[in-house]
Amino acid sequence: MNAKFKVPLIAFMYFVAGALLGSFAGWTYARGLGDQSLLDAFHRWYHAKNEEESMPNWLGHPFWKCPLDAWVYQEIIFDTKPDVLVEAGTYKGGSALYFASIFDLMGRGRVLSIDINDYHPPQHPRIVYLLGSSTSTEVFQRIKSSIRPGERVMVSLDSDHHKDHVLSELKLYGPLVTPGCYMVCEDTDINGHPLIDNWGPGPMEAVVEFLKTNRDFTQDRSREEFGLTMFPGGWLKCVR
Ligand SMILES: C[S@@+](CC[C@H](N)C(=O)[O-])C[C@H]1O[C@@H](n2cnc3c(N)ncnc32)[C@H](O)[C@@H]1O
Repeated sequence: MNAKFKVPLIAFMYFVAGALLGSFAGWTYARGLGDQSLLDAFHRWYHAKNEEESMPNWLGHPFWKCPLDAWVYQEIIFDTKPDVLVEAGTYKGGSALYFASIFDLMGRGRVLSIDINDYHPPQHPRIVYLLGSSTSTEVFQRIKSSIRPGERVMVSLDSDHHKDHVLSELKLYGPLVTPGCYMVCEDTDINGHPLIDNWGPGPMEAVVEFLKTNRDFTQDRSREEFGLTMFPGGWLKCVR
């Protein structure tokens, strides 16, 4: 081909290819098709970084949650005003202290936090720690008897993340939750949703099974407002 035509032809082909690619990118973006893979990539990166380096702190105490989820917790606590927040999985107490701090700002509320191990969590007048398994009859009875009639109850499940255990917790603690309040089933992102593909059935699978027969709770997707949550489908609102 004559060089006089070759250069403009190649330039034109590049232009057409660029226009097509740009249109495709715009089309996928407009439909949110590109967003999910971007979010999943950030989700994996965030998880790997916090596993390998360090987790966030709340007032100097290790706090095993993504700050975006912590913000959603704050919004839920303010919106629903629980008197009691039952937490399964204390670890080093950063999350119990966080909940207690929100309660301090609101001038109400207390935390009942359970763990099988004592990691010496921080003391706070609004927090009571219970040592034992969240699914043991003894611990559950202690929780139940410390809730006074008429108190509004919220639950956060963040202990053993295997399906059977989480499903037992959902069934045990669900009836304690006040209509309008939440039971948050944490770490539904594991077992490939999108983290740790080889975990095996975990919180997500427990939630799916729980909701097959339970009509008292609904997955409140409006609480996934920041796009990234470690608890996709795990913000369970008690509707009746
Ligand atoms: C992910 S950590 C909790 C993190 C904490 N909620 C936070 O956000 O900082 C899980 C905790 O659950 C505890 N755990 C494991 N199995 C449990 C069980 N059956 N009952 C109560 N706690 C359990 C572990 O000892 C561990 O401290």
